[in-house]
Amino acid sequence: MGMKVLVTGGLGFIGSNFIRRALAETKDEIVNLDAETYAGNPENLADLLPHPRYRFLRGDISDPETVRQAMKGVQAVAHFAAETHVDRSILDPEAFLKTNVLGTHVLLEEARRRAGEIKRFLHISTDEVYGPVLRGKSSEDAPFRPTSPYAASKAAADHLATAYHKTYGLPVVIARPSNNFGPYQYPEKALPLMITNWSEGKPFPLYGDGGQVRNWIYVHDCVRALDLILRKGSPGRSYNVGGSVLLRNRDLVLKMRKVMGIPKSLVRQVPDRPGHDRRYALDSRALSKLGYRPASDPASDFDRALRETAAWYQSRRSWWRPLKQSPVFSAYYREQYAEKTKEAAAR
Ligand code: NAD
Ligand code: TYD
Repeated sequence: MGMKVLVTGGLGFIGSNFIRRALAETKDEIVNLDAETYAGNPENLADLLPHPRYRFLRGDISDPETVRQAMKGVQAVAHFAAETHVDRSILDPEAFLKTNVLGTHVLLEEARRRAGEIKRFLHISTDEVYGPVLRGKSSEDAPFRPTSPYAASKAAADHLATAYHKTYGLPVVIARPSNNFGPYQYPEKALPLMITNWSEGKPFPLYGDGGQVRNWIYVHDCVRALDLILRKGSPGRSYNVGGSVLLRNRDLVLKMRKVMGIPKSLVRQVPDRPGHDRRYALDSRALSKLGYRPASDPASDFDRALRETAAWYQSRRSWWRPLKQSPVFSAYYREQYAEKTKEAAAR
């Protein structure tokens, strides 16, 4: 018997991959509540609209009445909805506070009101709550030292979710994934930006010296881990969800240049992101203890996952071209690069 699961933000990158998997591999009934922001793309799940176990609701998680309707008859919540792009949070933090903090609060409140009905509340947090870790790996009890407005808003939401467990006994489980990559990622993020820019013959803007380290995980692995945490995680606990690959950005660029046969001239060093976290690394042993075994995570499979990802974007121009041609995308880039040019001039 499956559960009725409210997924928030299911038209985005990880949420849409989570729903695809849930409908294919579980008996769960999915209600997807998504505000269709610039990052929420109906195309991502258009083929699943006729599915008998899938229902889409357009709406904002920070609206209590919308959330009240969406949570009717639900046994579990998987909360993905968020403003997610660090660079946008630097240009304009307000939407991040509204959705990530207040929106999360509205969901937690409604779940609290339905005490007993909601058996699990999976809150999707991020490795960015720990801030930069120059050595070693962050375990789940590491202190939070967020740096960007995005990370700070996610840290607030993470604390709030824990507080609802400790104070009200809500069965909250928290996942803190590292950098995901794979299909359906909005092309402002590093990897899809790289692949799609190169497919258009444009350079990839590498921030600073490219020495920042990220912990990469294939989205297909991440959503399996999230499903496991939703079902088996201990209420009140947090679980890091990190891939085994730690890589400097310039090494990722090198790998992808090889995959796609791209010359060095299509990499442009640009001024660094302000407050750019130098390194993230997660200790994911608690997740392994829960029974998680990656399907494609070991380093040997990482290159294959990168090739699959490049091939997906190369064969899905009709998916990303309209996104990159939209006024939202170009307005963001104008602002982003106007800002970077100003910073460079001031140095
Ligand atoms: P995304 O930006 O691709 O998608 C976010 C989705 O949330 C979109 O569909 C958007 O329309 C929806 N949304 C935004 N504001 C909303 C609101 N007020 N009400 C309802 N829906 C709203 O994000 P993603 O990369 O899929 O990330 C999903 C979650 O995972 C986020 O909570 C993010 O912080 C977390 N996370 C992401 C990564 C990553 O590498 N992408 C890593 C760690 C954690
Ligand atoms: P991003 O995909 O924005 O994820 P996050 O900031 O959440 O880690 O960026 C991944 C890394 O790539 C990060 O260190 C910033 C860097 N980056 C670039 O060098 N150039 C770019 O154009 C972007 C978007 C990111």
